[in-house]
Amino acid sequence: MKNKLIYEGKAKKIYSTDKDDIYLQEFKDDATAFNGLKKDRISHKGEINNFISSVIFSYLKENSIPVHFLEKISETEMLVSRVNIIKIEVVCRNIAAGSLVKKFGFEEGKELENPLIEFYYKSDELGDPLFSEDHILAMKLADKNDLDVVRKMTKYINTLLIKFFSEKGIKLVDFKLEFGKDKNGNILLADEISPDTCRLWDSVTNKKLDKDRFRFDLGEVEESYQEIKNRLS
Ligand code: TMP
Ligand code: ASP
Repeated sequence: MKNKLIYEGKAKKIYSTDKDDIYLQEFKDDATAFNGLKKDRISHKGEINNFISSVIFSYLKENSIPVHFLEKISETEMLVSRVNIIKIEVVCRNIAAGSLVKKFGFEEGKELENPLIEFYYKSDELGDPLFSEDHILAMKLADKNDLDVVRKMTKYINTLLIKFFSEKGIKLVDFKLEFGKDKNGNILLADEISPDTCRLWDSVTNKKLDKDRFRFDLGEVEESYQEIKNRLS
């Protein structure tokens, strides 16, 4: 099933398979932060994030979101539709945290009146800089129509995920999405959705249950990822 390694990122590997349209996505235990400056392993992260992403992609698929996810095939692997990743990281925020606090002086924990969508250029060499729709059009990473689709899908995914997590006693503070295009030009949600790519706080205590525990050495990293997995099980 697993053929050639196509791509290795910081947290995942992508392999080709016997089927031309299907890739295998493998989740690693490796964790990095601050554009790779901080590096470590989080035990069992690969299997936890594969589980969490599979549950979330299945839920989104049931709610008519086109996703690359096909099926979870082992503890750390899933099959996905082959797409060309659009080199944009789409961040959606409901509550101020992270770079919104650091770069723009928001008060951490302040609820935003409307979801705030941002675009970052997916480039390790350039450190994923924040950029605008005009940059994206100038760089021809996507056209106006693609961006409208991406924005609409992101907003709908946000609505679905807020409901999904709140039923599990979790606040969806913010998250990052990546999209890709399949061979027919359809835009599919890709990559992963996990505590690596979301900020998730306990609804009652506001305890951080995501990668910020690793980024800022808050302790109980694996336990927090496991806690999210348990609440989704
Ligand atoms: P930020 O506040 O650091 O900009 O992060 C916003 C959201 O995006 C947060 O949920 C974490 C996620 N994220 C990634 O998935 N990958 C990244 O490289 C960065 C910087 C953030
Ligand atoms: N994923 C990014 C990195 O590896 C940043 C982050 O998640 O904080 O450096």
